[in-house]
Amino acid sequence: MKTLLYIDCCIRDEASRTQQLAQSFLNNVSETYEVTTLKLTKLDLKPLIGEHFEEREQLLTAKNYHHPRFDLAHQLVAADAIVIAAPFWDLSFPALLKLYIEACAVDQITFKSTPDGLIGMCNAKHLVYLTTRGGVYTDSPSEQALPYLRHISTFFGVDHFHAISADGMDIQGYDSKLSLQNAKSEAEALAKTLF
Ligand SMILES: Cc1cc2nc3c(=O)[nH]c(=O)nc-3n(C[C@H](O)[C@H](O)[C@H](O)COP(=O)(O)O)c2cc1C
Repeated sequence: MKTLLYIDCCIRDEASRTQQLAQSFLNNVSETYEVTTLKLTKLDLKPLIGEHFEEREQLLTAKNYHHPRFDLAHQLVAADAIVIAAPFWDLSFPALLKLYIEACAVDQITFKSTPDGLIGMCNAKHLVYLTTRGGVYTDSPSEQALPYLRHISTFFGVDHFHAISADGMDIQGYDSKLSLQNAKSEAEALAKTLF
C-alpha cells in the first residue's frame, strides 16, 4: 500500500477552516493510500539552538543518520505523497511548520550534495499545500508561504507542487463561506485526480 503523509499544522482545532479544507482533500484520497497524520502541535519540535543544535552537528559529523531525531526526515523521504495544511500567518505559515522543516532538512537524508549540485531525495511525486487566509492574497507578492513551500518541495526532490487556498476568511462583508466552499471543491477534485 502507498503512504500519504499528512502534515497537519493547523493550530486551532475545532474551528480551523484550514483543517476543514484538508479534510475535503483527504476524504477523497483513494483507499490505495494509507494516510499517516503528523499533528505538529503534538510533536515536541524545538528550534535549532544550544544543545539541540550541537547534538545535531555531532550526529551529522559522526554520520549517525539513523539516530531517532532524524526519524521525521526518514518518514518524509519514504512517503509516496505529501499533504501540508497550514493557516496563513504573518504573510507566511506558522513558525511551527518551519521547525518541522528544519527537523527534516538533513543532508544525506532529504537531500544530498553531489558534484552536479544539490539533489532532493524524497520519494513523493506530489506535494499538496492547503491554506486559508484572513485577507485576499492570491497572486500577491506579500504571500510568502506559497513560494517558499514550492521551493522547499523542489529542494527535497518532489516533482510536482500543488496549492489550494481560500482567501478572505476574516473580511467583513466578504463571502468567506463561498470562498471556503470553492476551495473545498477544488481540493476534492485534486485529490481524485492525483490519488
Ligand atoms: C497569528 C495569526 C496571524 C495571522 N496573519 C495573517 C496575515 O498575515 N494575513 C492574513 O490575511 N490573515 C492572517 N491571519 C488570519 C488567518 O490567516 C485566517 O484566520 C485563517 O483562516 C486561519 O486559519 P484557521 O481557521 O485554520 O485557523 C492570521 C491569524 C493569526 C491567528
